Amino acid sequence: MSEITLPTVWILGGPGSGKGTLCDKIVAKYGFTHISTGDLLRDEVNTGSERGQELVKIMKEGALVPTSIVMELLNEKIKSKVETSKGFLIDGYPREKKQGEEFEAAIKPVDMVLYLESKDETMVQRLLKRAETSGRSDDNLETIQKRLQTFHDNNDPIIEAYKSKVVIISAEQSAEAVFAEAEKKLDTLVA
Ligand code: AP5
Repeated sequence: MSEITLPTVWILGGPGSGKGTLCDKIVAKYGFTHISTGDLLRDEVNTGSERGQELVKIMKEGALVPTSIVMELLNEKIKSKVETSKGFLIDGYPREKKQGEEFEAAIKPVDMVLYLESKDETMVQRLLKRAETSGRSDDNLETIQKRLQTFHDNNDPIIEAYKSKVVIISAEQSAEAVFAEAEKKLDTLVA
């Protein structure tokens, strides 16, 4: 897929930092294709396949699913959208530096990385609130704490590796204010 030239943005941040919320707003303005690796994995779980049953165990532990599986799902999705897309928003990927390298080798170099920086307390509170209605098996305090640990174990090397492309946005503000900051940067990307 080396011919892909569409703008490609990774959305990074801890669990509950607001990645999905920001992506919805970006899609509304820019018409980019939003691909969440968490959603791709939950879709696979919902097929009831044997692989899905393995995935749900990993996700309940707040751990990372093997990169080969995530990349396969991601590649398939991108291929299916490339003809009609205006750009790609890859939400929740990469979760470790190696994932970034594999994406860039298989798909294309990333153009911009938006990183939502948040305090752990804020993320925990948001996820516990969301747990009241989300029905997600990983929205419980024990799994949230494991998800945070996995995030902290892996995030810094990614930010360091892509620092020339990373835009850090505080997630400790309203969703509208987060989008306004992202918008300023994205306007320069699509200009
Ligand atoms: P994933 O589904 O990606 O979960 P996550 O990263 O933990 O993030 P969330 O989707 O829970 O939160 P979010 O940051 O999108 O926040 P949201 O906008 O919803 O991944 C799940 C699992 O899949 C992982 O743990 C892992 O096991 C596996 N996985 C996924 N990707 C993988 C990969 N690449 N490699 C390996 N494994 C992978 O907001 C949260 C709440 O806060 C909402 O209720 C929202 O309304 C509210 N909110 C949002 N923004 C604000 C704001 N600014 N102010 C107030 N409230 C806000």
